[in-house]
Parts: sequence; C-alpha cells; structure tokens
Amino acid sequence: LGTWEVSATDSSSVRVLREAAEYLRTKDIPVGFPTETVYGLGADATRSAAVKGIYTAKGRPSDNPLIVHVSDLDMLRVLLTPHHSANGTTNGHSDPIPEIYKPLISRFWPGPLTILLPNPEHSLLAPEVTAGLQTFGARMPSSPLALTLIKLAGAPLAAPSANASTRPSATTASDVLEDMKGRIDLVLDGGPCQVGVESTVVDGLCSPPVVLRPGGVSMAEIRSCPGWDKVEKAYKDQSELGKAAPRAPGMKYKHYSPKARVVLYEATYAAGKNGISEDDVDYITQTSQQAKEAGSAPTTIGIIRTRSWKTAAGLRTGQLESREVVEAPEPDTEVEAQEAQLLGPKLDEPLGKLLDLSIGVDARSAAKGLFSALRELDRRKADVIFVEGIPDNDDIAAAVMNRLRKAASEIRS
Ligand code: TXA
Ligand code: MG
Repeated sequence: LGTWEVSATDSSSVRVLREAAEYLRTKDIPVGFPTETVYGLGADATRSAAVKGIYTAKGRPSDNPLIVHVSDLDMLRVLLTPHHSANGTTNGHSDPIPEIYKPLISRFWPGPLTILLPNPEHSLLAPEVTAGLQTFGARMPSSPLALTLIKLAGAPLAAPSANASTRPSATTASDVLEDMKGRIDLVLDGGPCQVGVESTVVDGLCSPPVVLRPGGVSMAEIRSCPGWDKVEKAYKDQSELGKAAPRAPGMKYKHYSPKARVVLYEATYAAGKNGISEDDVDYITQTSQQAKEAGSAPTTIGIIRTRSWKTAAGLRTGQLESREVVEAPEPDTEVEAQEAQLLGPKLDEPLGKLLDLSIGVDARSAAKGLFSALRELDRRKADVIFVEGIPDNDDIAAAVMNRLRKAASEIRS
C-alpha cells in the first residue's frame, strides 16, 4: 500500500498524480484522495467494474448512491447529455445545467456543495453510481489536488467518503490507511482536510428545494441565493425523532461511529454550565466506579470539548490530556475513619483514565476536528466518549450536530 505525499504544484507531485490518474483509468480498485471536506475513495464513474470496486473496498450497501466529482462544467454537461449525442458542447441547444443551480454553482463551486441532477437515458455514468435512481449527485471539489487528479484522469470520479462503512469519515491520509489497509493500493496524501465534514447535499429539482444533508455550505448561505429563499430541511436528526430517548444499544442505523459508546450533551443541556461541568465529570467518574465494581477492566473515558481552546486543565486544542481518575474508598471501620480524618483519604487503585480533548471554540474548528478526535479516542481505546454539543443554528454547526447525533448512542438534552 503506497501513501504518496503530494502538493499539486511541484513536478514530482505531478508525476505521482499522473500515475494515480493512469491507475484510475485502468484498474478496478479505488484510490484514496483528499478533498477540502473529507478524503474520498475515487473511481472512474463511467466504468462499472471500477465503481463496483468502491462498494467492495468500503463494505458499503449497494443501494446508497455515490457523488460524482467533476473538474469543470463541461465535464458535467457531458454527463447531462444523452450518451449518443454527448460532446460536451451545447450544439446551439440550451445549457443542460438546470437554471435553479446556476446561482449555487457560481457562488459555491468549486467547494463543499453537492447538487442532484437528472440522469439522462443512455447515461455515461455506470449504473452502480446512482444505485438505480433517476438522479445523480455531483460536485466540483475545491482541493487543487482533487481537481488536478480528475483532470488528469480525464473522467468524472465517483467517490464516497474514504472510511469503512459505519466509521467516522477520514480527514487525513493515515485515517484512510487505518480503514482501507489491504483493501486498496494507493492513497494520495494532501494533509488534513480544511472543512472536516462532508459536502452539503441539495435537491433543486423539487419544489420547494431541499437540503438532504447539512454540510460545509450552510443553510443560511444557500437561502440567500436567488430561487433558494424557500429551501427546506429534508433530513431529521435523532433529537427531533424522539426527544432524548436513550437509543437502544446496537440500534441498526450506525453511522460516523467510533468503537466507543458516544454520549452527546446537546448544547441546551450544557447551557449556562459552559459545557461539560465538574458535576458531569463526577457522574462520569461514578460510571467508571460501577464498571470497576462490575469486575470489568478500568474504564477509559474520553471527553471532547467544543467551548474553549483550553480545557479545565489548561490544554491547547488537539492535545490530549490523560489523567487518572482516582477516588477515596469509604472507610470500612471506625479505626479507618479516624485514620482518614487524621491522614487524609487513602486513595484506591486508579479507576480509569480520562482523555480530555478540546477541538476549539467555534463551529468551524469543531467541524474540522470532529472526526479526527473521534478516531484519536478510538486509537487510545476509550470505552465511552462524552461530547459537548454546540448550538445548532443555520451555520456549519448543523452539520457537526447532525454527525454527532448519528454517532451517539445516548443524547442528553
Ligand atoms: O464531501 C463529500 O461529499 C464527500 C467527499 C469525498 O466528496 N463524499 C461523501 O460521499 O460524503 P458519501 O458517499 O459518504 O455520501 C454521499 C451522500 C449520501 O448521503 C448519499 O445518499 C447522497 O450523498 N446521494 C448521492 N447521490 C444521491 C442521489 N442521487 N439522490 C439522493 N442522495 C444522493
Ligand atoms: Mg460517508
């Protein structure tokens, strides 16, 4: 498995990109590549065998359609034109790109926005891309590396996020390696992704237009475009489905999930307490105590904070504090109680380990750090992860909270 570090500019990188493009044209195993949102697992969207390779590598159910990545609008026009007459030009006919999308395209492309388009009869796209739907999702990524790769491959790239199915998305090349080792041959390393959550998916073919998945472009930004002022939300988050119902373990729709159990504190819960408080940490400690009494190994507890660059212990973002959770045992006898009064409490064995991580102070930094924080705590074998939610308004916070609600097995509101 090769990881090649590339920055789209220098000549050796161009050579690497050419080799990757050649690989995409000829092989049926997908290639990991960076975009500004998350890493993708790309394949030539016009070749069935190559697209099937994506589903195999990801372990993804084949009824979930893929996003098609283009490097320019002419590449998109070819996909919108029936196969037998496709030549990418308009032949004096009207532009095949639906008018409703023009304001979005000029404002957000290249960038983290996916639009749904009608898939023509005799489509150039492999049928596996659309999973049998009449539409396909398309976006033009802003990562120069992604754009260069698509251009050199000379074909649109179908690409889902480069994580194993159900896992948190990958935002670094090593995240991709972690999930895809033995399943793919090649990952292009372009450093950590700038946005950190996936693209916003919109459908402008229905009326009113809808947002199918919140992402890197906010609802407010979309609403401000001509023709999009009535845009509606067509996704539902867990908290709106059934208020604060602790979800049964192993409930089937797992998504974005680390191995650890995730407990999400909605921003409303933490309001006025500035996030996870010392009381909450007490509760967490008790959970650990119970685990120990039940005879299981000491618990490793992760906390992801989103309210301050500094955690309670004065840490900077991205750094992980690890402190042992210890608690004084109840004195058993009168003598022990007197001793404890004189000498202070006798500390027990460590109950567990607390891994305390901060991913920043605003929605953008939370988006950027979210998936890598979940993965880091997994690597450190956290059994449970407590996450501070952020106020879910019209900005990228909606994407952050949407992913967290899906990852959570328990929501406290
Ligand atoms: O930022 C992103 O969008 C990343 C990067 C790699 O570009 N890709 C990504 O792909 O997140 P994936 O496969 O993990 O998510 C694609 C989403 C899914 O929710 C899928 O159901 C939806 O887009 N989708 C794709 N085509 C669709 C269609 N024709 N109709 C409805 N939903 C569609
Ligand atoms: Mg995904």
